[in-house]
Amino acid sequence: MTFEKTILCIGAGYVGGPTMAMIAAQCPHCRVTVVDINPERIGAWNSDNLPIYEPGLDELVRATRGMNLFFSTEIERGIRENDIIFVSVNTPTKSFGLGAGMAADLQHWEKTARQILEFSESSKIVIEKSTLPVKTALAMERILNCRENGIHFDVLSNPEFLAEGTAVRDLENPDRILIGSRETDNGLKARQTLVDIYASWVPKERILTSNIWSSELSKLVSNAFLAQRISSINAISALCEKAEADVAEVSRAVGMDSRIGPKFLNASIGFGGSCFRKDILNLVYLCRNYGLDAVADYWESVVKINDYQQERFIRNMLGAMFNTLAGKRICLWGFAFKANTGDTRESPAIFIARRLLEEQAEIVVSDPKALKNARTDMAGIEGQIRYVEDPLLAAEGCHAIALLTEWDLYRTLDFPKIFDSMAKPAFIFDGRNILDHHRCFDIGFNVYPVGKPPLTHFLEER
Ligand code: NAD
Ligand code: UGA
Repeated sequence: MTFEKTILCIGAGYVGGPTMAMIAAQCPHCRVTVVDINPERIGAWNSDNLPIYEPGLDELVRATRGMNLFFSTEIERGIRENDIIFVSVNTPTKSFGLGAGMAADLQHWEKTARQILEFSESSKIVIEKSTLPVKTALAMERILNCRENGIHFDVLSNPEFLAEGTAVRDLENPDRILIGSRETDNGLKARQTLVDIYASWVPKERILTSNIWSSELSKLVSNAFLAQRISSINAISALCEKAEADVAEVSRAVGMDSRIGPKFLNASIGFGGSCFRKDILNLVYLCRNYGLDAVADYWESVVKINDYQQERFIRNMLGAMFNTLAGKRICLWGFAFKANTGDTRESPAIFIARRLLEEQAEIVVSDPKALKNARTDMAGIEGQIRYVEDPLLAAEGCHAIALLTEWDLYRTLDFPKIFDSMAKPAFIFDGRNILDHHRCFDIGFNVYPVGKPPLTHFLEER
């Protein structure tokens, strides 16, 4: 079968896999190949056990794999045979040298640019899908177009806005698709090629085009704004706990202002995930590099509040449980950084678990999808840790439950049974405010939500 367009994606991760599966499903006239240096990942994409858990992803991949969607480790061949190349490799925070702990580590990124240069036998469109510091496209263009051999590369920026847990839905029905290009004849032509691919299923008015630097920067800024809302409401949750206000009531009242809107105002144990922290730090680093220290300080405070919120959660637990956790058994409900994913990257649960172990508590980790990753995250950390998938069994004999991920299944458990099986006084620390706190209190629990007055059976606190 001949295809109108041949597309390659380098990087078969949380973004590359689902994004390419959606393009393949929506564009039967395109052949889509996803390559990776990690053969295990590619093996998993080719198996019945996909490397990531996302609702709807299994069906999407099953519908296209082997028809116009292929997963492979043959990177050189992929580069040679495809005209349009997405690059979706990881861009973590740099852990060494200048900018360590702040700047983006671009080594994987640059390596792919050099591979594309080395193995290309014809002109290509190269698309930044990874999240990158503004002006990265310039470096990409300089590497790719350094040879004078008649082969030309157009670099586009097409950042991804999907959120994990809703990736398939987000890809199918995106708020917007952003495509940045050089405003030259070649740049505009390349941009149109990518617009045409997305126009197969995305309404035209949601496909935004812009200059390439605006596109790169918009991705960092979107994540910074989203994270800023969470830090804003989390900062207010601390005040609510002092002032006997209820953060859910405050966020409802504030969010009903149509200029503010209701989303991303849920107080929590803090945001996690592989991107918010790294992308804000990247933005902070960029601002400092340009001498904009006041701007950098402003955005850095979003991350500081997030760290503060996680530490506050531990201090609240300590304070409530008579200032000692040593020898107490604490059950963690949820380890993933959010519900509906098995991803634990930068999950607040990692920090909280470590801190509880430092206090010499024993922990029982429970999660419906993230236990494998949790074991890896906690490997080598000293202390007593057990992993139990069933949340009821996990809570048995514990002094406290800390709810860390907002999985729906935790809302409807048999709380009287759980209470009976626990050591008394029994505590629930609801780090996501998803439980029926009054009902849990009536059953006998001492309940500590985030940003709301606690419900306790201790007389002096009432
Ligand atoms: P990931 O770590 O899940 O996947 C990246 C993949 O790239 C890995 O499988 C790795 O083996 C592969 N890789 C690295 N170097 C390679 C090379 N030289 N050749 C071939 N493959 C190589 O990362 P991710 O979560 O998919 O994120 C990718 C990018 O997308 C990041 O820049 C991230 O900031 C951005 N992003 C992520 C999300 C998300 O929800 N995870 C959302 C939007 C944007
Ligand atoms: C986020 C963005 O939402 C995506 O648009 C973006 O593409 C992606 O980052 C990325 O660049 O990687 P993601 O991290 O997958 O997506 O998930 P979110 O739904 O944004 O949640 C992030 C964290 O914030 C989670 O830990 C979540 O529990 C927390 N959160 C979210 C809150 O604490 N309160 C809220 O009100 C919302």
